Amino acid sequence: MAEDLQIVTGSKEDQYQALMPQLQGLLQGETDSIANLANVCAALKEQFGWLWVGFYLIKKNTAGADELVLGPFQGPVACTRIRFGKGVCGTSWKEGKTLIVPDVEKFPGHIACSSLSRSEIVIPLYDQENIWGVLDVDSRELDQFDATDQKYLEEIVSLLRP
Ligand code: SME
Repeated sequence: MAEDLQIVTGSKEDQYQALMPQLQGLLQGETDSIANLANVCAALKEQFGWLWVGFYLIKKNTAGADELVLGPFQGPVACTRIRFGKGVCGTSWKEGKTLIVPDVEKFPGHIACSSLSRSEIVIPLYDQENIWGVLDVDSRELDQFDATDQKYLEEIVSLLRP
């Protein structure tokens, strides 16, 4: 079965509007979480061309503490573990909300996995009340993410389950 993504040009809104039904189609009927996370990364990377799109998932470390651990992603190699409250990802997890960072150099404690990253958005993944990971998107451009990205990316992650 062909799974080609139809890539569109136009405004950010236009691009998300075209992507949403395709993503719903890709995820529908598939219960494997890793497969779905992987396809969401690939689709977002293909449509928007961002530097890095990926998931960090909450897992226990050897000391029994919860940490964010690198999951499916598209882009350059990245740091594998992020602690609660650390960096943009760990802060989004701690605060339980989406964080938009227009200039990563101005975010205290930002973790620079790639020196090419200039702005970032992180969206927590909720399973009812519980956070089970985050979606992290990095751009080579300053001030790349806004309320439109927040709205659609939150909608996209609401389709995902651990
Ligand atoms: N910048 C993130 C770390 C993950 S990488 O960008 C892929 C942070 O500060 O949490």
